[in-house]
Amino acid sequence: MSDAPSNDPVEITADAVDAAVAEALAAFAAASDTAELKAARNAHTAEGSPLARLNAQLRNVPNDQKAAFGKLVGQARGRVNQALAARETELAEAETAAKLEAERVDITALAPRTRVGARHPISLLQEEIADLFVGMGWEIAEGPELEHEWFNFDALNFAPDHPARQMQDTFLVDPVARHLVMRTHTSPVQVRSMLEREVPIYILCPGRVYRTDEFDATHLPAFTQFEGLVIDKGITMANLKGTLDHAAKVLFGAEAKTRFRTNYFPFTEPSAELDLWHPTFPGGARWIEWGGCGMVNPNVLRAAGIDPEVYSGFAFGMGIERTLMFRSDVQDMRDMAEGDVRFSEQFGMVV
Ligand code: PHE
Repeated sequence: MSDAPSNDPVEITADAVDAAVAEALAAFAAASDTAELKAARNAHTAEGSPLARLNAQLRNVPNDQKAAFGKLVGQARGRVNQALAARETELAEAETAAKLEAERVDITALAPRTRVGARHPISLLQEEIADLFVGMGWEIAEGPELEHEWFNFDALNFAPDHPARQMQDTFLVDPVARHLVMRTHTSPVQVRSMLEREVPIYILCPGRVYRTDEFDATHLPAFTQFEGLVIDKGITMANLKGTLDHAAKVLFGAEAKTRFRTNYFPFTEPSAELDLWHPTFPGGARWIEWGGCGMVNPNVLRAAGIDPEVYSGFAFGMGIERTLMFRSDVQDMRDMAEGDVRFSEQFGMVV
């Protein structure tokens, strides 16, 4: 190659110097990145390059011409080095800019993310109700959803052939001889709590219950109740009314009112249906049926080993789906069972 480094002596002429400079500048301009520029620098300024060889020739120039040729070559090297530095800066800046562009992060853009979902409103309300009673010093109690018939019915004073047993359409579990049922209410936890705990008892039990009901706008075959039980000395129906009134006001607002209507449950005596009134209920100011309650039947106390001569108590049981329906104006209970996140999201993204 003609421009391959060579050690042949070259003659210093203005043309040769200009040509070397022109070649160097052209090579620098042609370099498209710093790596190419480095190669061009080696070829046009390092040892063996035309300019370096011209420089080396200065040794052989007669003394009286040394100054003139020295100036010629020196200026040429100066121009080349200047051009090299300028091109170096230019390419480095372009490379930094390209790198920044490539690594650009748009901090205003929403990162793609998987949807986190939302907690179910029944779970949220269940916790809110639990908190309300825990705030009064009550304890949270639990019991199994697959329950023995004795706890679900017998201990609650339902006679074997008592028509009240049919009041609650029960899912019986095979084999029937084992007497297991899906609990039809949270009331069996009353009996379990009395057997497991010492009096006085102040417990709240939220939980799922099962009935062979239709799946429609106001019924679900699996739903949620909260059961309250108080056993202490000197408990009266006034304590029950005061407790439920307080719960109604906390859950629905200060304007909420409650009333009792006589009713029958085998495990309470007297028993009452609890109605709830609020001025802004869906459908206007009106009474709605909220749940059942009453004074614990002495037979139930006896079945759990508590002396009804010394202790008395009250119990209540409410549906949480019904509570949510009236509190949040949910038209169709099936929305609570279907698990569509768009329904749950309307109650907030509490996690
Ligand atoms: N267990 C009853 C029901 O589900 C409600 C209730 C609970 C009534 C406690 C009285 C006392 O219908």
